[in-house]
Amino acid sequence: MTTRKLTREDVTFLIDLVRRHSGIVLPPEKSYLFESRLLPVAGRFGCPDLAALIRRLRAGGDRELEMAAVDAMTINETSFFRDSRPFDYFANTLLPQLIERRARSRRLRLWSAAASTGQEAYSLAMLLEEAADRLRGWQVEILASDISASAIAKAAEGIYSQFEVQRGIPTRLLIRHFTQNGKQWQVKPSLKKYVRFFEHNLLSPPRFSGTVDVVFLRNVLIYMDDATRRRILDHILSRLAPDGYLFVGSTESLTGLADRLVPVPGAHAVYQPIAGARDERAQPSRATPGAGLGARLGTRPRMPSAAFGSS
Ligand SMILES: C[S@@+](CC[C@H](N)C(=O)[O-])C[C@H]1O[C@@H](n2cnc3c(N)ncnc32)[C@H](O)[C@@H]1O
Repeated sequence: MTTRKLTREDVTFLIDLVRRHSGIVLPPEKSYLFESRLLPVAGRFGCPDLAALIRRLRAGGDRELEMAAVDAMTINETSFFRDSRPFDYFANTLLPQLIERRARSRRLRLWSAAASTGQEAYSLAMLLEEAADRLRGWQVEILASDISASAIAKAAEGIYSQFEVQRGIPTRLLIRHFTQNGKQWQVKPSLKKYVRFFEHNLLSPPRFSGTVDVVFLRNVLIYMDDATRRRILDHILSRLAPDGYLFVGSTESLTGLADRLVPVPGAHAVYQPIAGARDERAQPSRATPGAGLGARLGTRPRMPSAAFGSS
């Protein structure tokens, strides 16, 4: 297959394509990535070169091709326990509080809403497993979604390279929750069972029913304009429990964007719906024995049967 330099018009067209379908505003400086990422898409869809691919994209009407191109250009950078601070805060402060507050319903549902290749969701699953003694008999579930079909496929497979597991997983947890297979590490079924992966575009309303207690929406709004962020936050708030929590990336701020959310005092980049925050504010660090990475592992909580409505 021959390659060619993309013209300035092609780059503008591709940036607009990604923005229309995902809300992501790619900086033109990143356009050097487009060619190498789009060439495999051209091959898969039977286009002899990039020019043919761009022609087909420009002609419009082929949603599968468009989404494959968008998928190829999304930024899926992630790692296990990325930034560590939100995971510590979740395990040591929020989880103990939620266990108290949900003692009646004995249900807990988390949503990794831009899950990429699954590391964030599996990190949360490891933390829930640490608290398994206190969650015995509960319905516990992690929803994990992303616009990228290829990222979700990898996440659901749960196979990671040595490099990927080295980035963030403490050895004790790696040995506990992964099986080594040559140079690869496979997530054990006992951890996988917590997580339900599915494709979802945050520009659309969530397709699952019921509410979630905690949303991780990290390192995705940063690529979007204010109108898109507001639209996505509306969708998230439509599913977040009134006393639930929203985590964004450590360099992201919702200040001035969300008049229905307030920052949680004592936490960084964690927000609560205003109504819930009025009733009950998160108190910093009331660490409970058994929470956090150093805790003993318990038995696994009961898993719910199903969480999805129809799309
Ligand atoms: C940089 S990764 C962040 C992954 C993880 N949350 C973290 O912080 O490590 C951003 C993810 O957002 C996803 N994404 C971008 N636009 C999206 C949209 N409109 N709907 C759902 N996911 C989207 C991308 O596919 C990518 O996997």
